[in-house]
Amino acid sequence: SIAIERTVAGLRGYVADWRSKGQRIGVVPTMGALHEGHLSLVRAALERMDRVIVTVFVNPKQFDNADDLATYPRTEREDAEKLETVGAHLLYCPDAGEMYPAGFSTTVSVSGISEGLCGAHRPGHFDGVATVVAKLLLQTGADAAFFGEKDFQQLQVVRRMVADMDIPVKIVGCPTVREADGLALSSRNVRLSAEDRAIAPALARGLVEAAKRIEMGDDVADSLAWARRAIEAAGFREVEYLELRGEDDLAPMTSLNRPARLLAAAWLGNTRLIDNVPIGGR
Ligand code: PAJ
Repeated sequence: SIAIERTVAGLRGYVADWRSKGQRIGVVPTMGALHEGHLSLVRAALERMDRVIVTVFVNPKQFDNADDLATYPRTEREDAEKLETVGAHLLYCPDAGEMYPAGFSTTVSVSGISEGLCGAHRPGHFDGVATVVAKLLLQTGADAAFFGEKDFQQLQVVRRMVADMDIPVKIVGCPTVREADGLALSSRNVRLSAEDRAIAPALARGLVEAAKRIEMGDDVADSLAWARRAIEAAGFREVEYLELRGEDDLAPMTSLNRPARLLAAAWLGNTRLIDNVPIGGR
């Protein structure tokens, strides 16, 4: 069965051995409760790299809501089985004490790109993400790290952090994996009631339809307002944000003059869902 390591020292043993054989190492950071979205990253990594480490760590520093952290799904045995089937080489799952030993005092904070969108509604979230991702990249020493476009702002925050901190790793973004009805796969989808699960695809539908309208030349503000109304009319409690942003810098855009993303977060009952779609120039 797949090797499991829980300590930095143990992890480094594997990495040193692989390095001495000249093998190229990929890492896929996750918080577990693995689904096809995560596994698509593992497969992408396996195609390009000789050895693939999957990390599972439910990072307390990136949760802005104690309930969300307490109820975050934890399924280590199933995760290990899935990784074994896909062919990953090592599962690294440190506990909180290994990641943040007594006295831990450092925060990696990326300004600008992490401030709007999710950053505006989840205080400290991207500091927590940047801090743990920096540690995971340095602990594994991987040549490449694989992230999903599902969390598009996170992907761009990580790219910025790695460039700014001269971490010698290539960041690879991978497309969002969706259910047949368009809902983006997420570990939090298991929390949806049957009724809410039926409403959930309206988020992706609203984004896709608004993207089409904007690409066809409709007014941006009108299209965004239309999508908000459509998503709420379908049964979402509240659209938290729904915005057009530049693809690389996530800067606000009022007209479509370069490659962009439409990004949204919306509440379905007590579950917060996020999604995004590319628009124009791709
Ligand atoms: P988690 O939500 O478990 O996601 C791990 C990785 O899987 C992220 O790169 C995310 O973008 C990707 N992913 C999730 N759902 C996806 C989907 N439907 N299609 C494609 N990729 C998908 O994101 C995190 O964990 C954490 O913030 C982490 C980066 C591990 C730092 O703690």
